[in-house]
Amino acid sequence: MSERERTPVTVLGLGRMGTAIAAAFVAAGHPTTVWNRTAARADALVAQGAVRARTVAEAMAAGPLVVAPLLDARSVQEAVGPAASALRGRTLVNLANCTPAQARELAAWAAGHGAAYLDGAMMALPSTVATEEGFFLYSGSRRAFDTYLPELEVMAPAHYFGTDPGAAEVHDLAVLGTGYAALTGFLHSAALLARAGTPPETLAPLAARWLTGMAAFLPELAREAGAGAYAGGVSTVDLNRAAVHALVALSEENGVPPDVHGPLKALLDRRAAEGFGEDSFSSVFELLRPRDAREP
Ligand SMILES: NC(=O)c1ccc[n+]([C@@H]2O[C@H](COP(=O)([O-])OP(=O)(O)OC[C@H]3O[C@@H](n4cnc5c(N)ncnc54)[C@H](OP(=O)(O)O)[C@@H]3O)[C@@H](O)[C@H]2O)c1
Repeated sequence: MSERERTPVTVLGLGRMGTAIAAAFVAAGHPTTVWNRTAARADALVAQGAVRARTVAEAMAAGPLVVAPLLDARSVQEAVGPAASALRGRTLVNLANCTPAQARELAAWAAGHGAAYLDGAMMALPSTVATEEGFFLYSGSRRAFDTYLPELEVMAPAHYFGTDPGAAEVHDLAVLGTGYAALTGFLHSAALLARAGTPPETLAPLAARWLTGMAAFLPELAREAGAGAYAGGVSTVDLNRAAVHALVALSEENGVPPDVHGPLKALLDRRAAEGFGEDSFSSVFELLRPRDAREP
């Protein structure tokens, strides 16, 4: 496709993510119009071939697809609000970090101004935009997602989670939650090893190697939790309970607060007390899942 045939794209917000995103559209040959509150941040992009818009309304007039990697929901309202009439007929892709409720509010607000709305959560860093390493989660207008999938995938591989505009943010938090638990575990272990004079730098490669193995274990956990079938797993509640008890005891002996693993210890103790010690570790899900999801 020649540059002339490529969809014109507007990028509102040229912070760290916005600059990387606009550069990706320029590099992919899209006519790219950019706007930023602090206009000078567009200089390098203009040198690369982007067009600088003086106002948000002018930027949104440039094409049907408006991508907004602004700071937060408030900045989207503040930037786009005064030019809301220019939203009519456009698709607004909000990439600012929002709560699910804020995403739903923005979707309703955009619909009120005649725009289709997609909410996006960026699982990426500025350096992993337009690489296979980053990925973006979307929800909101299915038609907008299908129509603009090629453009969305200029930024990152795109995953769609349904018409509820808040769904991308819910899934974003779920993925972040998985990572936070691992990263906090790392910091706990670094504190524990510091007592033995071992620096965090020594732990990092060992932990990274272990986490790679743990990641490969996720599909099995998912299969067991999804089916509610926990028999015959290789890693049982009892086995992990012993390890977590040892970890908490070692932490306490060394004066490291067992705050990270205490809740897991309590869950494993409960499963064992209820007679499920031989079940797979994944059966902890039974204590966390919504109670009405699989009741008879
Ligand atoms: N950086 C990351 O690694 C990363 C990764 C994933 C997701 N995110 C998310 O991506 C979003 C953007 O992050 P970022 O790192 O690119 O942020 P950033 O570098 O701080 O840039 C923020 C952008 O928002 C603009 N802005 C802030 N308040 C505004 C307002 N009231 N009106 C108009 N424009 C306003 C800024 O304009 P000025 O230039 O005029 O200040 C700038 O263009 C955030 O929601 C962040 O959580 C970031």
